[in-house]
Amino acid sequence: MSTLKAVRGTRDLLPPETELWNFVEETARRVFARYNFGEIRTPIFEDTGLFARGVGEETDIVSKEMYTWEDRARAQSEKSQSLTLRPENTAGVVRAYIEHKLGETGLLQKLYYIGPQFRRERPQKGRYRQFYQIGAEVIGPPSAGSESPLRDAEVLEMLATLLDELGIQGWKLVINSVGSSSDRPRYIAALREALRDKAPLMCVDCQRRAETNPLRVLDCKVPEDQPIIETLPKIADYLDEDSKAHFAAVCAALDACGVRYDVDPRLVRGLDYYTRTTFEFTHGGLGAQNALLGGGRYDGLSEALGGPKAPGIGFAMGEDRLILTLQAQAAQQSAPADAYLAPLGEAQNAAALGLARELRRAGLRIELGDGGFRLKKSFEIGNKLARKIILLGEDELKSGILTVKDFASGEQVKVAWAELATALRSR
Ligand code: HAM
Repeated sequence: MSTLKAVRGTRDLLPPETELWNFVEETARRVFARYNFGEIRTPIFEDTGLFARGVGEETDIVSKEMYTWEDRARAQSEKSQSLTLRPENTAGVVRAYIEHKLGETGLLQKLYYIGPQFRRERPQKGRYRQFYQIGAEVIGPPSAGSESPLRDAEVLEMLATLLDELGIQGWKLVINSVGSSSDRPRYIAALREALRDKAPLMCVDCQRRAETNPLRVLDCKVPEDQPIIETLPKIADYLDEDSKAHFAAVCAALDACGVRYDVDPRLVRGLDYYTRTTFEFTHGGLGAQNALLGGGRYDGLSEALGGPKAPGIGFAMGEDRLILTLQAQAAQQSAPADAYLAPLGEAQNAAALGLARELRRAGLRIELGDGGFRLKKSFEIGNKLARKIILLGEDELKSGILTVKDFASGEQVKVAWAELATALRSR
């Protein structure tokens, strides 16, 4: 009999890896608490209509990726209903906001969630069919200041803090504005116009989207379509004065608190509910699935779901991708240092420290030995800790030419002081 395995795109999380998951979740809860967010837990399945209306019929998520089934009535008092495993959590949070009349408090609701989401995507590194998100939403009546660009900047600053506290190195933030509901029709009209001639040259999905929802053409990942997408009108040219001022204020607040970002005018994100600010934090170490997290403003979502006016902004981080990034970083840190720098006598210790400083400032990982060690000992320690050893004696100091030995190949070369950083980088 064949043995049963976890379903494609799902996986078991086992110790000791689960410790890292707990560390990430505890860090997130601690940071969210400092910004006065409270936890919300919504059901894992919802009425299918919630996602169709909230996320948008024509998005990839709703049109291709949802796990949907017809839930049969069990009693006469029940109706059969189309249900869906949640592909994301924002629609559920806004449904709960409306259902529990949270807007009537007159205050901003600052809610976070941690939990599984489900999308039938093609599994690959960093992309699963059951994946985990850590997300948060700030939503409330306009009188509570929910439309203010300060809210956008505060959420982004909180994310920068969280990624730093998690120890994620080298993240990048890209932001854009996709305009308000009044900018959108003008932009969509311009896109439709531009796509009239170009859509027939694009993939079949784009040919359909050009008719049904032209904005989604910009999500297309087909390589042959990219040069055409580059020529399409940009949303930034269709923002009205209010939207431009809103975006400028978000950027100014980020500048004021020192959070670095790039503006990408093509960042529209693949969900229909976004208005004004959209953003992603990316990480180079993740490969094709490089978005650690994404989010943005959704000023009309509550009304689209039959609720009161309740502008909001939020994000969701891919917890699986955060873990992959932390694991890759840890593996890199436990790898051998670039070089072991061995002063050949105590008289060279001070110069060796200066050279180590120079190399470390150039981004290299250097283990500094001690001129009090015998040469044999330096080689033994160096071999354990580093890929190469640099010898720095009296002659080397005088001539400015150093001896570098590669432990793996045994090759020994002479390198000028000024060339050392480059030589150490070459494998
Ligand atoms: P999203 O961009 O669809 O946005 O997903 C957010 C993040 O979830 C992505 O950046 C990625 O890290 C992770 N993610 C998405 N799909 C997968 C997958 N198949 N496998 C692994 N990780 C994945 C949303 O979900 C919005 N609800 C975010 C939001 C909140 N916007 C406003 N509020």
